[in-house]
Amino acid sequence: MSNSIDNLLHETRRFTPSEEFRANAVAGADLYDRASSDRPAFWGEQARELLHWHTPFTRTLDWSNPPFAKWFDDGQLNVAYNCLDRHVEAGNGDRVALNWEGEPGDSKTFTYAELTAEVKKAANVLAGLGIGQGDRVAIYLPMIPEAVISMLAVARLGAVHSVIFGGFSAESLRARIDDASAKLVITADGGWRKGKVSALKPAVDASLTIGGPENPSTVEHVLVVKRGNNDVAWVHGRDLWWHDQIDAANPEHEAQPFPAENPLFILYTSGTTGKPKGILHTTGGYLTQVAFTHKNIFDLHPETDVYWSTADVGWITGHSYVVYGPLANGATQVIYEGTPDAPHPGRWWEIIQKYGVTILYTAPTAIRTFMKLGHHIPAQFDLTSLRLLGSVGEPINPEAWVWYRDVIGGGTTPVVDTWWQTETGAIMVSALPGVTTLKPGSAQVAVPGIHIEVLDDQGTPVPKNSGGLLVVSEPWPAMLRGIWGDPDRFVETYWSTFPGKYFAGDGARLDRDGDIWLLGRVDDVMNVSGHRLSTAEIESSLVSHPRVAEAAVVGATDETTGQAVVAFVIVRVIEDDDEPGAAKALADEILDEVVAETVESLAAELRAHVATQIGAIARPKQVFIVAELPKTRSGKIMRRLLRDVAEGREIGDTTTLADTQVMKIISGTVG
Ligand code: PRX
Repeated sequence: MSNSIDNLLHETRRFTPSEEFRANAVAGADLYDRASSDRPAFWGEQARELLHWHTPFTRTLDWSNPPFAKWFDDGQLNVAYNCLDRHVEAGNGDRVALNWEGEPGDSKTFTYAELTAEVKKAANVLAGLGIGQGDRVAIYLPMIPEAVISMLAVARLGAVHSVIFGGFSAESLRARIDDASAKLVITADGGWRKGKVSALKPAVDASLTIGGPENPSTVEHVLVVKRGNNDVAWVHGRDLWWHDQIDAANPEHEAQPFPAENPLFILYTSGTTGKPKGILHTTGGYLTQVAFTHKNIFDLHPETDVYWSTADVGWITGHSYVVYGPLANGATQVIYEGTPDAPHPGRWWEIIQKYGVTILYTAPTAIRTFMKLGHHIPAQFDLTSLRLLGSVGEPINPEAWVWYRDVIGGGTTPVVDTWWQTETGAIMVSALPGVTTLKPGSAQVAVPGIHIEVLDDQGTPVPKNSGGLLVVSEPWPAMLRGIWGDPDRFVETYWSTFPGKYFAGDGARLDRDGDIWLLGRVDDVMNVSGHRLSTAEIESSLVSHPRVAEAAVVGATDETTGQAVVAFVIVRVIEDDDEPGAAKALADEILDEVVAETVESLAAELRAHVATQIGAIARPKQVFIVAELPKTRSGKIMRRLLRDVAEGREIGDTTTLADTQVMKIISGTVG
């Protein structure tokens, strides 16, 4: 890794904003000065300027009980009103809010007036099902307009949504439903993916019966959107069709104000243990920072821009930069249901051409995939409407950055690389496109109003030209307010490494100019295609399989997906009661590599097992059946060595291993 970092830091290409871009930019350099003198006051100004407050706040930040922050806490607002009604009341009801494109080519458009009307009906439906302030609603939907409508309807009622990405399994869904005690699930029969309907409701049905009648869930109703037209099983009394309910709903609904610290959503993300964390966000501070960053970093001109973030609402980017930021700012945006290559590899570029997209926000893994496919594919479409490009989710290598700007951006668009996390709620490190001279590969500087440092292990800020750990040193408006139901884990995970400062879990380096380069996670969290996965969670899924005695998972560098999940597994010897010795014999064969086929089919079975337990995104790319795992004398698995094997490198220093022969055995099996 250090070689590639050296290469990165020698990147010398620079891109200054064009005169035209600078002249029309929303954000100027003065933002930094305004923010640096008094951060809470600066955010207070932004909160007043960007949002409508039913009851104005008089306090900005309350940090009297760190790390539990309160922002604008004596103010009251309604998030959905801020994203919808006020734009209609301001005379912008005819502006398009959503241009939705279905994968098979069907499409729908919602103006702000139409979206407001839909959300009002949906809010009445939810209220009729007993949802009120503070209740939790699980949303398990494809990228269809109802996903956005559901989230806003929940927010309108002061309730709390927990969106679960449609790629997660029935078990993952149930774990999240249970953790938050959700009363309602909103799902669909299915959605379009890769040219066919992928069913969703069966996973909800399965999840709610896990553990049988002795293990009832907290869910009272399941609202089902008809999208795939696939057959579905029906539980009478529990299941309700969305369209039946919406058609019968009262169209009037007045948004009530809620306190600024009223919870808005829980979003689960992987940590270093096996149990996902329910990251909790509240309303006033969150909406302020997502609106501020969306406006200033994406240089949003709401009257003329067409913005498209390719993220799914199941991830934080979909929350902050598909739903809340763009809609709070009255933006016109595109949302797309399907995969980038269905029905043809130019699908995204066709969508940009069709809607005249001006701002595109996507992930490096997608850019690298398109690079591989070649520039002749985007060249078949008119992409000249694009004027700004954004990147998020993982470090973007300079070659991908330059390709993005040259091939997609016609060699003229700024590219903003935005660093942030589920926990930070909004962008924290990024260039300002009309101000900053851009450097490919570097996320560059803290957003105005945000205080970022790179510290050494002792907590001392590192000098320029050196590396350390990324921290946020002052509270910020969109910061997580905790982990749902687990305040101790919140303090321990984020605030104990450097007391009083938020430790993000990422390594970073400052270059000669003091610009920030993100280097990836320093904990046991992997980043696969910009999605966070925990090694511990996948390991515990593997050992829950009856054939697995021990498992170690590493994230191996992958050209396209950033990292790929690679598992090393020791097989358990199971005695078969009917045929003593049979299973034992099988295990011996495996270790002797006599029955290669068995090894292969077991590896396939284990990959499928993880996909069933967690979801397809966690399915290991490779599973190696091994006889031993490399451990230190104190029994800790040395993942570094396994990563060497998985990445086909010479194995590094093995002197701390309890058994120095073990790496030879593993390399023999794998190589
Ligand atoms: O490691 C960092 C990486 O993604 C992690 C956060 O993942 P998640 O909560 O799923 O949110 C992803 C979308 C905001 C971070 O700890 N990461 C995110 N953006 C970047 C990044 N790494 C490098 N550069 C980025 N721009």
